[in-house]
Amino acid sequence: MIRPILIHPDPRLKKPCEAVGEITADLRQLAADMLETMYDAPGIGLAAPQVGVMKRLIVMDCIKDGPPEPIILFNPKVIWASEDLSIYEEGCLSIPDQYADVKRPAEVTVRWTDETGAAQERQFAGIWATCVQHEIDHLDGKLFIDYLGPLKRQMITRKMEKLKRERARQG
Ligand code: NI
Repeated sequence: MIRPILIHPDPRLKKPCEAVGEITADLRQLAADMLETMYDAPGIGLAAPQVGVMKRLIVMDCIKDGPPEPIILFNPKVIWASEDLSIYEEGCLSIPDQYADVKRPAEVTVRWTDETGAAQERQFAGIWATCVQHEIDHLDGKLFIDYLGPLKRQMITRKMEKLKRERARQG
């Protein structure tokens, strides 16, 4: 089931999320819905708070061409970050059509629980590294625009407020 994606500004996008306990059938369904919603958007990553669920869960697939490679990460945690930084132009499904360069560690090692309840650990590089950090930020109530200067951030926020007003009028 495709779920509606919250648009910034929304208080749920600014709040830290709760850790997930046992991986239940409901949580697996939530992850499947999030992947469906992400592919439909289309996007390369989605965090649970973006669909209004305040739990530590993200989904990703950064493959552009070729067979899909969906990953479901419960309670993801960066346990190592490279000193090397890289800059990517980031966007966000909760901030449609707005993009800006963000500097982050070029490589990270992330530990998480998968959909079977097993512990996983993997080193991410390139766009995957940027994406996983962007999505984990969502779980801490942080958006990519929080890395920008206040003027740029305000400009984007005003555009989103306008977009939300327009969408509300259209019902
Ligand atoms: Ni995002």
